[in-house]
Amino acid sequence: MPHNPLKLFSLKGKVIIITGGAGFLGTQYARALTGAGAKVMLWDMKKAPGVELVDITDEPTVQAAVKKIIKKYGRIDALVNNAAMNPAVGSPESQTQFVPYEKYPIDLWKQELMVNLTGMMICTKAVAPIMMKQKSGSIVNIASELSVTAHDYRFYDDPKNKKYKSVGYTTTKSGVLGLTRQWAVRLGQYNVRINAFSPVGMQTDKTPKDFIKRYAHSIMFGRMARPGEYTGAIIFLCSDASAFMTGHNLVIDGGKTAW
Ligand SMILES: NC(=O)c1ccc[n+]([C@@H]2O[C@H](COP(=O)([O-])OP(=O)(O)OC[C@H]3O[C@@H](n4cnc5c(N)ncnc54)[C@H](O)[C@@H]3O)[C@@H](O)[C@H]2O)c1
Repeated sequence: MPHNPLKLFSLKGKVIIITGGAGFLGTQYARALTGAGAKVMLWDMKKAPGVELVDITDEPTVQAAVKKIIKKYGRIDALVNNAAMNPAVGSPESQTQFVPYEKYPIDLWKQELMVNLTGMMICTKAVAPIMMKQKSGSIVNIASELSVTAHDYRFYDDPKNKKYKSVGYTTTKSGVLGLTRQWAVRLGQYNVRINAFSPVGMQTDKTPKDFIKRYAHSIMFGRMARPGEYTGAIIFLCSDASAFMTGHNLVIDGGKTAW
């Protein structure tokens, strides 16, 4: 153990990939990991400053992006598998994704499996051999508290046109836990860690007020998460502070799943 235990959380010089790095939480993670000393690579399908266009569902593109990082830095210390189809409440995408399950379009379901699960598999598969060779590394699979619960449709304030959080979302987030445990079996012998992280909903300045009120009622603190409240968990999972942790699901949900 270092003399100063806080050094366990240091990410100085570590090379870290964040998928979905242009998104709401991805940008928060990027700031936090950079602040802790890491060199952060952002992958996304959305154009944004400092972001490399990498579609995580396309295996050759992902393999090429990994090769590029190895050429430049010679190593990869952490991968944050964060990209997913997670339309914000009230957004146009949520109109098609939050429909009753008996009407759920199978094309959309397939797309969710592809991005939320297969994409995670493709990125893990590309990075794992490098970490196995290094005999070090940490992979963080972003799930959701919906990996261990079902979404409560009563949070949506629209009795005439009931909305349901995507069935594909909850299903794939539960799947992330299986993927995490099974990869942990493969990677443990190489001193490579892989854990899931399950946060609860974080409000944005666009989240409808009624939704916040109803959702907040399900959380022991009586509120949704605020920006920045998951960055400590991400630093912990990427750093040596979590050196003896693998195959786990870290739930941070303001107590939602505890009552
Ligand atoms: N926001 C929350 O409150 C919350 C709560 C629990 C879990 N999560 C999880 O956290 C993660 C981030 O969520 P967010 O709210 O920041 O969502 P977001 O939509 O803002 O970000 C997701 C990003 O992933 C990208 N993406 C989608 N498909 C991709 C692909 N094929 N290749 C590369 N990038 C792709 C999107 O362009 C987007 O920038 C997701 O896994 C989500 O399920 C979020």
